[in-house]
Amino acid sequence: MAGPALWVPLLLAAASAGRAAALWPWPQYIQTSDWRYTVSPHGFQFRYHASSAAQAGCSVLDEAFQRYRAVLFGSVALRFPSPAERHTSEKNSLVVLVVTAGCDQFPSLESVENYTLTINDEQCLLLSETVWGALRGLETFSQLVWRSPEGTFFINKTEIEDFPRFPHRGLLLDTSRHYLPVASILDTLNVMAYSKFNVFHWHLVDDSSFPYESFTFPDLAKKGSYNPATHVYTAQDVKEVIEYARLRGIRVLVEFDTPGHTLSWGPGVPGLLTPCYSGSHPSGTFGPVNPALNSTYEFMSTFFLEISAVFPDFYLHLGGDEVDFTCWKSNPDIQAFMKKKGFGEDFKKLESFYIETLLDIVSAYDKGYVVWQEVFDNKVKVRPDTIIQVWREQASVSYMREMELVTGAGLRALLSAPWYLNHISYGPDWKEAYTVEPLAFEGSPEQKALVIGGEACMWGEYVDSTNLVPRLWPRAGAVAERLWSNEIVSNLESAFKRLTYFRCELLRRGVQAQPLGIGYCDTEFEQN
Ligand SMILES: *[C@@H]1O[C@H](CO)[C@@H](O)[C@H](O)[C@H]1NC(C)=O
Ligand SMILES: *[C@@H]1O[C@H](CO)[C@@H](O)[C@H](O)[C@H]1NC(C)=O
Ligand SMILES: *[C@@H]1O[C@H](CO)[C@@H](O)[C@H](O)[C@H]1NC(C)=O
Repeated sequence: MAGPALWVPLLLAAASAGRAAALWPWPQYIQTSDWRYTVSPHGFQFRYHASSAAQAGCSVLDEAFQRYRAVLFGSVALRFPSPAERHTSEKNSLVVLVVTAGCDQFPSLESVENYTLTINDEQCLLLSETVWGALRGLETFSQLVWRSPEGTFFINKTEIEDFPRFPHRGLLLDTSRHYLPVASILDTLNVMAYSKFNVFHWHLVDDSSFPYESFTFPDLAKKGSYNPATHVYTAQDVKEVIEYARLRGIRVLVEFDTPGHTLSWGPGVPGLLTPCYSGSHPSGTFGPVNPALNSTYEFMSTFFLEISAVFPDFYLHLGGDEVDFTCWKSNPDIQAFMKKKGFGEDFKKLESFYIETLLDIVSAYDKGYVVWQEVFDNKVKVRPDTIIQVWREQASVSYMREMELVTGAGLRALLSAPWYLNHISYGPDWKEAYTVEPLAFEGSPEQKALVIGGEACMWGEYVDSTNLVPRLWPRAGAVAERLWSNEIVSNLESAFKRLTYFRCELLRRGVQAQPLGIGYCDTEFEQN
């Protein structure tokens, strides 16, 4: 198979004129040539190889075949190639061979996404271990097919062997600061699949609103959402998001952040939040979840029992970031509890007590968990299989130093700090996201192996469904390639050309992705 030496000329070829296929993200090994085959839209089929473990009836692939047929040929008026074009041999099908089926399962952190794609005189074959790998290969196939100015479809002779560099490639959406309609979430899942992201981190609730309709505690959304009739996610909505994601090989990692970031929980669960005091009287305002009451843990047990059942992924995100101690400090009951527990004046110990108890609750439901870095920073005793998400940009401890500390403690890490895409600036800011090297910290090979990936984050303070799409795309693509492609794929010039091409392809697919600079696309975005 082709080694790294092949890369540079290929990158240049891929970028030329924007007519030939340019892939995003770039595959691990690729060999292409100028030899091309025509692809005939009316005759074209996706077919299962006779010895494939997945066959017709496999929901994941049957539906993917339909989607990719539409992506490839959807709006095209069918025409036959001209006689001059007919002399090249024609490709009428892509044959798919999956080794193990699992069509009804959910993707997981351990899912194998490898695939090989072989387009030559003898075959047009997509081979993968799992249906999830087949999905990645179908996407690549769809990016390989190109159209001549005359409207004929071609695919070049190509050999690709591909697999992700990191198994966790996430994108966070925040549906609390602003409610995002279900359609916005589904549209995002589509573009995630185009760029090979595989985890949708759903930051579902926060201080501002509680749009999740719980069936055990209906008052949470009734009293905590912006509007319980229109700005909530029903059980049906949640199911739809999970299934839509599954069909695209995307896991849904749901986050219910506590003990901070919980103001919206208060109205629905009286007594859950800590009453803040001003002097010796309650001030009427509330702080984080009250860690001194047994009723708090009883509530959390029942609530997370529901969440564990509703969200099939093994992992839950339990938050744990930015706990403000001011309110806890002001409350005499909390002060008494601190004394009883012997925590002295160290409110980090109180926070740890809360989180450790919560982690025990969730572990009992056979779930794993991801938490924000403060849980690690504050020395909470976590299970060894806890995943720590590194997000803070601080002068004292750089995020790379934090990666070193987390993995040095033997814990798995996810990187997000340099990938807050809600932060915007004038110019090509995708480059900063692109040039991040997640393993550029001091550490042993064992430590580096504990980095399971990262996440692009789109916090919602200034984002709703009006600007979500252009703010995300194609900028999130920079993170997608960093997490999928080989470390040595780092040339900014070729990335710029391919990302520009990918953005044009997104426009063609109906995604309102913003421009990366001056220029035009053959197919511009049109409101439909
Ligand atoms: C595909 O082949 C055409 C000519 O047939 C060539 O112009 C183009 O650069 C090739 N694309 C790739 C990616 O090799
Ligand atoms: C997937 O690719 C990786 C990297 O080459 C390799 O280590 C692994 O064995 C492959 N897995 C399968 C099932 O092919
Ligand atoms: C809370 O639970 C603990 C342990 O079960 C028990 O010792 C304590 O008395 C309970 N406190 C209250 C106020 O019920």
